[in-house]
Amino acid sequence: MCILGAGKIGEAIIEATLSTGLFKPEQLLVTARTRKRLEYLQTAFGVSTTDNRAGVREADVIILAVKPQLAKTVLTEVAGELNSSHLLISVMAGTTLSQLEEWTVGSCPLIRAMPNTPLRIKKGMTALCGNGKAGAHHLNFAESLFNTMGRTRIMEERLFDAVTGLSASGPAFIYIMIESLAEGGVKAGIPRHLATELAAQACLGSASMVLETGKHPAVLKDEVTTPAGCTIDGILKLEEGGIRVTLIKAVEEAARKAGALGKEES
Ligand SMILES: NC(=O)c1ccc[n+]([C@@H]2O[C@H](COP(=O)([O-])OP(=O)(O)OC[C@H]3O[C@@H](n4cnc5c(N)ncnc54)[C@H](OP(=O)(O)O)[C@@H]3O)[C@@H](O)[C@H]2O)c1
Repeated sequence: MCILGAGKIGEAIIEATLSTGLFKPEQLLVTARTRKRLEYLQTAFGVSTTDNRAGVREADVIILAVKPQLAKTVLTEVAGELNSSHLLISVMAGTTLSQLEEWTVGSCPLIRAMPNTPLRIKKGMTALCGNGKAGAHHLNFAESLFNTMGRTRIMEERLFDAVTGLSASGPAFIYIMIESLAEGGVKAGIPRHLATELAAQACLGSASMVLETGKHPAVLKDEVTTPAGCTIDGILKLEEGGIRVTLIKAVEEAARKAGALGKEES
């Protein structure tokens, strides 16, 4: 497998696939723009570094993880090396399957994946869809690849900008919430390292409750909210601050930007 543009998300994929034993370091080829980045990846993970065209020649599965603005340039560079035995998986925000088809001249099956960085610790969320050339076995392969790094859902491509705004950008929104909850703990006298641990574990536990019980979040919220207790006073402050509207708008705005990124060129 070759990762074209092994930056933050590429590194998370390297780390996850190595730690699950799915690939050995010598089975992973990576490319980047700078020598410094390639040296770091080689030293940190023992993977082989190469250039984009050689990487495509030598691998059967290609993960394209450059910025969307560089997609056309990089795909035009490697198009001559791609053929029907390759599987190209793009993790880029905003870039559509039809754009990818145009820039690869329809030479290989294509899958669009939208992962997030928690896949590094096998807690990722990845949405997948394929083009007409991608058969069930290609989607199955991509699904089993990303399943080793967390949860995976096959979804319609029209939802991908929304997925990007929700689950790919989402971790950044949640980190801000954890940081802010911890600040509340610090304000109430808890040492910062404990406040951060308590806030993060509360988020982890709550997220697991939603996924494992299948209950609606509002029902779970009601279970915490004793009449005339302290939680309802806290909820009142959250509502005063417009937390719901703010979060809805954050996802909506990130989704809008994801769509716009695919139309930008460097
Ligand atoms: N970060 C996330 O949470 C996340 C989640 C889902 C999807 N994505 C998508 O993943 C893609 C990458 O995002 P990122 O956050 O990982 O960005 P990033 O850290 O900037 O990584 C991009 C990588 O591309 C390399 N690169 C630049 N030009 C190149 C070229 N011509 N050939 C080969 N490699 C080249 C860069 O190399 P240098 O380091 O040497 O400059 C860098 O390592 C984006 O399309 C984004 O939409 C990201």
